[in-house]
Amino acid sequence: MKEKLQEIRAEALDLLKECKDKNELDALRVRYLGKKGELTALLRGMGALSPEERPKMGAMVNEVRGLIEKALEEKLHALEAEELSRRLAEEQLDVTVPGVQNRLGKKHPLSTVLDEIKDIFLGMGFQIATGPEVELDHYNFEALNMPKNHPARDTQDTFYITENILLRTQTSPMQVRVMEKQKPPIKIIAPGRVYRSDEVDATHSPLFHQVEGLVVDKGIRMSDLKGTLELFAKRLYGEEAVVRFRPHHFSFTEPSAEMDIRCFSCGGKGCRLCKGEGWIEILGAGMVHPKVLEGCGIDPEVYSGFAFGLGLERIVMRRFNIDDLRLFFENDLRFLEQF
Ligand code: DAH
Repeated sequence: MKEKLQEIRAEALDLLKECKDKNELDALRVRYLGKKGELTALLRGMGALSPEERPKMGAMVNEVRGLIEKALEEKLHALEAEELSRRLAEEQLDVTVPGVQNRLGKKHPLSTVLDEIKDIFLGMGFQIATGPEVELDHYNFEALNMPKNHPARDTQDTFYITENILLRTQTSPMQVRVMEKQKPPIKIIAPGRVYRSDEVDATHSPLFHQVEGLVVDKGIRMSDLKGTLELFAKRLYGEEAVVRFRPHHFSFTEPSAEMDIRCFSCGGKGCRLCKGEGWIEILGAGMVHPKVLEGCGIDPEVYSGFAFGLGLERIVMRRFNIDDLRLFFENDLRFLEQF
């Protein structure tokens, strides 16, 4: 029996040494110390011993039991420590590693200024209208008092798709589209892309942007046009901005004018920016032609209105001192990142 005990002891301690995880460890605990374990079996067999031997043997079994228990306990701690250091190594976090750079996009300068312009007009009670870039000749020209063979058509090199369908050369067709649908009072701006078959250079692009404006109601006068557009200029360029109106001609307005702003670079003395003029043209405008109102079913005896149209690119170029229009459309990050 003693030999058997020594065997168990040696075997248990060996197995414990090799034990690799907690499951194995539990299995060993059951195998040696459990109710049906090997040591318990040994104790049961003590009935066969003489009364003198029995306590000795009992003490020996208990000693081995204690030894195995202690070894189990130590192994458990060792396994836990191992696991902890393994996790610490695996889950290491190096707080000095540089972060992943998230490159933030920026607003295109055309969008920045367009948003400002929209805000200014929204603040004056205008609504925003949008319409098709592929347009009917009727809206782009005919209804704007530019019948076929009208000389004004020649100034707008048009991309025709068919005889009657074209890429709009201006946002002015939106005036007609809005007036056809909506009866006065009307107070809208219509920003959007326009197209002309121009040769590309520093100041020309086949695609550019305009913002159209239209106000129609009873009793709208030239003074409303001037007041509105002067306020717009001051909001866009600052309170000290000075504007002037020059007579001009557009087929769909009568009278017509162009609005200039006193050069904000030289203050009117004349410089490179204003080409020595002292003034910079920023938009075309006028009182809506009675024929245009009538064509849209609005009685020109009752209603009157004013309209205006500005070129976005030119305004943005002057704002940021950009001398080449192509930069807006090339989307070179080195350019865009500057805004
Ligand atoms: N559509 C004109 C152009 O492209 C600009 C313009 C002038 C628009 C006068 C208007 C206006 O609404 O009243 O040259």
